Amino acid sequence: MVIAQSHKQRSVLVNFENVGLSYDGVSETLRDVNMVIRDGDFRFLTGPSGAGKTSLMRMIYLAQKPSSGRLTLFGENINQLPRDQLPLMRRRIGVVFQEFRLLEHLTAFENIALPMRVQGVNQNEYAQDVTELLTWVGLGDRVNALPETLSGGEKQRVALARALVSKPDLILADEPTGNVDPIMGERIMRLLVELNRLGTAVIVATHDLTLVRRMKKNILRLKDGRLSLHGPLKDISPATRAEASSRAAGDERSALGA
Ligand SMILES: Nc1ncnc2c1ncn2[C@@H]1O[C@H](COP(=O)(O)OP(=O)(O)OP(=O)(O)O)[C@@H](O)[C@H]1O
Ligand SMILES: [Mg+2]
Repeated sequence: MVIAQSHKQRSVLVNFENVGLSYDGVSETLRDVNMVIRDGDFRFLTGPSGAGKTSLMRMIYLAQKPSSGRLTLFGENINQLPRDQLPLMRRRIGVVFQEFRLLEHLTAFENIALPMRVQGVNQNEYAQDVTELLTWVGLGDRVNALPETLSGGEKQRVALARALVSKPDLILADEPTGNVDPIMGERIMRLLVELNRLGTAVIVATHDLTLVRRMKKNILRLKDGRLSLHGPLKDISPATRAEASSRAAGDERSALGA
């Protein structure tokens, strides 16, 4: 039935229930975090430097265990997951790090192919995917380029392609536009939005107010260790912005935790 279809619940990929994180066992970096990420969601993750954006992402890709509460990934409580299941779960999550983390002695193609090689997949099975990904990120002519010959934005796009090669259900991008100019930042963000339109859930940690406003997506805001969900920021043109009351501007900055 069409109506039943339209009400179909999208499956829950990530569920934080009262999750807390303390690195030293005394102070709490994150506390009482409740968050649900479903199939197809796009969320910006914002908050001041040191608010815990990277820490939150590290918990999702299983690089950091919560100190308290319950974290469920793809329906499995991570505390009850047998160790041998961890790599399988990690493969369902693609991560784009701010500092790229490309291997300098490998070409763009080889860097993107690395996750497949590590999994022991035969090159015949992934070569076409890697080439298509390189074309999709606009680097079809840089297949054999070494990272040192690529610009920051190009490296970031190789890193994005590498995060996608295992066809993850969820992409985590930590400040993906932090090291690139605004035009490249916009281009990388458009790729993430397009990817999301094709069905992958995306979480982007960013300070970039202009991009966040333009993309009109929901915002997860971290402040004082707590997480809250906000609707999209309004798109304000430069002219209107000049006239806008300082109160409205203050509200926006506050939604970003800036
Ligand atoms: N491995 C660690 N051991 C101890 N403390 C840590 C560790 N990683 C992060 N922290 C602390 O946890 C807090 C949150 O750090 P985190 O890197 O998650 O913040 P962030 O929101 O990503 O900041 P930024 O915007 O600067 O990237 C900071 O106070 C930081 O010093
Ligand atoms: Mg960070």
